Amino acid sequence: MSKTRQISEIGNPILRQRSTAITNLTDPELDETIADLIATAHAANGVGIAAPQVALSMRLFIVASRPSPRYPHAPTMEPTAMLNPQIVDRSGELVSGWEGCLSVPGMRGLVLRDRAIEVKYLTRHGEAVHQELTDFVARIFQHELDHLDGILFPDRVSSPTDLITEAEYMKIAFD
Ligand code: NI
Repeated sequence: MSKTRQISEIGNPILRQRSTAITNLTDPELDETIADLIATAHAANGVGIAAPQVALSMRLFIVASRPSPRYPHAPTMEPTAMLNPQIVDRSGELVSGWEGCLSVPGMRGLVLRDRAIEVKYLTRHGEAVHQELTDFVARIFQHELDHLDGILFPDRVSSPTDLITEAEYMKIAFD
């Protein structure tokens, strides 16, 4: 059975560490960790979550785009665990978009990201995946990868005025 875990918030030093690569794919705790991450993201209306957000220093995150009250226009996909993820190429075409983070509650920031990226990661079963991601899912991947390097989205806003509360964001997004 999966369970939700407590989410670390900005200010917690675990969020500022560089996470460690996963080398033991047969660790029986890995399946439980992945199930718990998916349950935690789902319960909090997140579209992604990275291991450091539940205080685990591992290069693992979940991409779980689906429409929710926090992201009404998100595309739907199966929650996908990505282990030892990396970006191998970038489109170079930067697009700005509003991001939030379960570890930065109540805030949104306007962040520039590559519109398209070529990525590699391992599945939970150790299969190597090499694919291109675009638009919202590419944004989630870049945001989650930052978590594995101790970077949070407020570090990425171009201007301090691009950091606003969720309530103010809702006025912009749904007026
Ligand atoms: Ni985040």
